[in-house]
This record gives sequence, structure tokens and C-alpha cells, in this order.
Amino acid sequence: MKVDGAHYRTIWLGADGTTVQVIDQTLLPHQFVVRDWRSMADAERGIRTMIVRGAPLIGAAAAYGMALAMATDASDAMLTEAYIKLMASRPTAVNLRWALDDLRALLAPLQASRRREAAYRRAAEICDEDAEICHSIGRHGLALIRRLKPKGNRLEALTHCNAGWLATVDWGTALSPIYQAHDAGIPIHVWVDETRPRNQGASLTAWELARHGVPHTVIADNAGGHLMQHGKVDFCIVGTDRTTRRGDVCNKIGTYLKALAAHDNGVPFYVGAPSPSIDWTIADGRRDIPIEERHADEVGRITGRTASGEVVTVDVLPAGSAAANPAFDVTPARLVTALITERGVCAASEAGLLSLYPERSLAA
Ligand code: MRU
Repeated sequence: MKVDGAHYRTIWLGADGTTVQVIDQTLLPHQFVVRDWRSMADAERGIRTMIVRGAPLIGAAAAYGMALAMATDASDAMLTEAYIKLMASRPTAVNLRWALDDLRALLAPLQASRRREAAYRRAAEICDEDAEICHSIGRHGLALIRRLKPKGNRLEALTHCNAGWLATVDWGTALSPIYQAHDAGIPIHVWVDETRPRNQGASLTAWELARHGVPHTVIADNAGGHLMQHGKVDFCIVGTDRTTRRGDVCNKIGTYLKALAAHDNGVPFYVGAPSPSIDWTIADGRRDIPIEERHADEVGRITGRTASGEVVTVDVLPAGSAAANPAFDVTPARLVTALITERGVCAASEAGLLSLYPERSLAA
């Protein structure tokens, strides 16, 4: 996607063929800074501290983290160390495991001298595949959007967190259909949940939509139910960090409440679900998905820009108050109207997913 006229992905290989470059998402929307990763430790820290975030991008970053590890030491011991360290960087997005399993299966049988090149090649492929997957999700989502009847003179979407191009390598999952609808001339406006505590909606989704010229309005997280009750939302669309084989969806904390409100108000609730985000090994999301618990400071502090342009972080809690910070929740399949995958749109159910991915049938 474009930033001030220049095409960017969120992660790419530097001109020296070894350094990995990423957009530092902790500084957006106030500063646009590109960071260099020169080691596996840089990649691990970048994922853990959310310089890069969003399930598909976490997977791509882990793949490049493995390549950086192989660039310094392609031994079996380093392969294992990099796998373990990168795997522990963030627990919820299954894309991390998907990418690391893929790289390990590729690299383990190779001689050490061939691992570096193979790892960089596969990491680049994973990035290209992700961009293609997200573009296809956009195409299928656009077909679905074309069938929706707006209540007013434009379609009103609501999204939570950031599942746009910044959360992926390019295009995004939930936002890809919105970009493609906008580009096709369909009048569309997006209600953007601010998404406390880290404000991915207010800081990242709003920034992306503004860069692309998509009309949008940021709302407090608690406003969505009210807007739905008053007929101001035609559909909700979100991303997923892990989808179970029966269609439960784990996404940024607060997604579940939006799905409940959508269900109560008869508003369709769609999920952009790339196949690397599907965890075929589990069925019950509430029971089986590890929910990341992040530092309480993310709840107790907020960062913003002052009138003089200085970016500052301030405390918002009284001294001594405790804060808790579960980062994800699980929306049960029964609240999801449909999953939009790169292979098409399906019901959020085991039968629905298997209709698109028959090779995942336990009998296959
Ligand atoms: O904690 P984050 O910012 O990594 O959480 C991101 C989300 O919850 C996204 O909605 C999800 O990864 C889907 S991204 C296409």
C-alpha cells in the first residue's frame, strides 16, 4: 500500500541482502520510522515489543527472524534456539507457529551451508504469499460487500483493532475488502474502534485509512453497540489471530463484545481469516487458545502528541490502582456470520471450513 505516494510493505529485505527492514508501528501515527533488524534477537524483540504486530505480519517477521539466525550461525543448535526464542515472543497468533514450523521443516534436513539462502528465500515467499492471500480475501470480501444493502447513502462498516495492511505484509485481512470496495467506487465509511489499551484502531487503522482516502470516524470502544442499535452500522468486519477448526475466532480484546452487539442487532459480523491463521489442531477456542496477558502499564498509560508536537506518555490511573491486560478474546462461531478466506467465503463451522479446505478433513 502507499505512504505519501511511495509503495511500502510492512517488512522487506534491505539492499545488502541480509538486513531486514520494518516499519516501526509503535511510533505511528506520529512518526514514520523504518527500523533495521540485523539479528534474530532484533526480530524477537521487534515482535515482543510490537514494533511489528498483527497475526500475518508476526508470522512473516518470525520467518525473517529465522533467516537472520541462519545468517550468523546455521548450526542445528541455533535452529533450535531460534525456533524456541521466536516461538515465545507472542503466544496467541498461530501464524507464528505456522511460519516457524514451516521454516524448521525446510531447514532441518539441509546441510548447514545451504540453510541461510533457503531461509531467506522461504521468508520472502511467505511475504509474497501473504500479500496474495490478503488480496484474495479482499476480492471475496468485495463480492460479499456488493450484495449488502446500505441503510443510508453509503455502506457503514465497523472494525476493531488493526487488521489492515500494517497487520499483514500488504493489503490487510479485514481492511482488504474495504480498500477494494473503496477503489471500486462503492461509497463506504468505516467506524474505527480506538481499541484500548494500545489504540491500534486510533493509531494504525485510522492512519492507514486516511493514507488511502477511505472515509472513517474513530469511536470509543464502547460506542459500537449504541451505533448498531441506531441502525448506523451495516456490517462489522475484523481480523483473527487464531481461528479454530470449528470456526471460533480469537482476536483483539473487545472483539467478542462487538460480536454480541452485532448479533443482538442483526448486524452481519464478518471475519477476514487467512488460512495460516486457522489452527486445525483445536476446536474449542475458549478452552484451547492461549490468551496473551500483557503488561498492566499498557492500561495505566497512554501516549499522544501535545499541541507543540512533542510525543509524550502519561499516567491515567490513580497511583496504587492495579490494572489487568488480557490482550485477546474468543468470539464463538455462533456469533460469526461468515469467514472470508483466500479460497472464498464460508460459514464459521467445521463443515464450512472443510468445504473450502477439504484436505484438512480428518478422514482425508
Ligand atoms: O496485538 P496485535 O496488535 O498484534 O493484535 C492484532 C489483532 O488482533 C488483529 O486483528 C489480528 O492480528 C488480525 S490481523 C490481520
